[in-house]
Amino acid sequence: MLLPLFALLLPACTGGKTPDSPGDTVGNDDTGEPLPSPTERCGYTAATDLDPADGVVGIELSQAPFEWDPGTGTMLTEGLAYNGEVPGPVIEAELGQTLRTEFTNGLAYDSTVHWHGLRVPDEMDGAIRMMDMVPAGGSFTYEFMLKDAGFYWYHPHMATEQDLERGLYGRIIVRHPDEPRVDCELPVVLDDILLDEDTLQVAPQDTDHMQLMGRLGNVLLANGRSDRRIEVKAGETMLLRLVNAANARYFDLTLEGQRMRVVGTDGGWLAEEVPVDNLVLGPGERAIVAVDWVGAPGDELRLMSARFQLHDEDAHMSEYDPMGNGENPVMTFVIGDEAGTPTPMTLPSDDVPAFTGEEPVAHTWVLDEDMMNGIVTIDGASYPDVPPVIVEANVPTAFVVQNDSEMHHPFHLHGNRFQVLAVNGVPPEIDGWKDTFDIPPFGSVEIASALDNPGEWMFHCHILEHAELGMAGFFMVGEGMDDGM
Ligand code: C2O
Ligand code: CU
Ligand code: CU
Repeated sequence: MLLPLFALLLPACTGGKTPDSPGDTVGNDDTGEPLPSPTERCGYTAATDLDPADGVVGIELSQAPFEWDPGTGTMLTEGLAYNGEVPGPVIEAELGQTLRTEFTNGLAYDSTVHWHGLRVPDEMDGAIRMMDMVPAGGSFTYEFMLKDAGFYWYHPHMATEQDLERGLYGRIIVRHPDEPRVDCELPVVLDDILLDEDTLQVAPQDTDHMQLMGRLGNVLLANGRSDRRIEVKAGETMLLRLVNAANARYFDLTLEGQRMRVVGTDGGWLAEEVPVDNLVLGPGERAIVAVDWVGAPGDELRLMSARFQLHDEDAHMSEYDPMGNGENPVMTFVIGDEAGTPTPMTLPSDDVPAFTGEEPVAHTWVLDEDMMNGIVTIDGASYPDVPPVIVEANVPTAFVVQNDSEMHHPFHLHGNRFQVLAVNGVPPEIDGWKDTFDIPPFGSVEIASALDNPGEWMFHCHILEHAELGMAGFFMVGEGMDDGM
């Protein structure tokens, strides 16, 4: 059996000091033995709102080099972070509030903040429009109204495959006035990181091979740590807000001995909960999951991720996963001594998509790969040569994303939200607002949108190496644009 790399390496770590507060660095004690990781209470702290006005949440966000320990006992000397935290601060606001972010770029190159999944004005989107590039050492104020309740995330949109690997990502919770409130709620960034086996530092971006196959890591992280432990109460309902921020890995999740119910997708709440045995999240995708904890004090219940093959099984492609072929723990929940009580999941169902499937298909995007020449394409071209798609705003419109390649691609569209009408012709089991979709090998996905956020928007594969290699393009949503088609 293949063991995850960090399990093999952990006992060999030496040095480091021993801060002991939860969430702080876990190092080694004086004898060089690794310390057990601390167990934190379920919950999180949101970023402080620096703006006194009721309708405005004001935060300061700065990104800079930052050394952090992913749980291996060795600081990543080339790490990055927002506000010196990995993940960055949790931004929390109410639906309809304005979010104002004073952003400073402490990196040595141009950057942006992209608000993944939020319908923001395009000049605030951190992509495409040149005006929102923030130079090294520069700052920019992002300001927009929060039109969507749900779970979102932010990350740079330049050098994404390097920056996200090193720790630049953060969580956004936009609250619906009628959403269920529980005591135990945890937003979790799922990630993997590829470390050099000897130095335990971020491994270099190798070869064209990694560019085509996607960068799979050898350490799994939950909120920046490989060893996260959270104490929960038996009988209590927990809401887990999950986002997959990995460069290329799909997480196929189960929670030991527990029943997971999906109550929200990328863009908000479902009309009804959907019980699932396992939950697959591709890069960029989110889910809100409710769990009523079952167990006895001291029980350790792990969130496990099973091997997910990115390539079609029949493809003549040997795909290597540095995490091995089995299941690996992502984080551990520990049942505490105190019991809790369940919260009924009464969901705010005033905001769920309801397209009929009658919406006209405006465009079919065709994704493909040419392994021999090392290129990935959309509609036969690579960015910036992918032909733009021009559509009329405020007209319910369908699109098809067709995958002619033998590999899964998590396809993400900026600026508008979508409903999945069909995957390979079949309506999906979980039906909510989405902005990122798994397009299975040799398969197709049909989506619909109201296109109620005009602008110039990017779309791309959220395997970050693919986006970098050119699996990206843009679509324009505007009034009177249909003559352009
Ligand atoms: Cu999460 Cu265009 O990205
Ligand atoms: Cu996005
Ligand atoms: Cu891809």
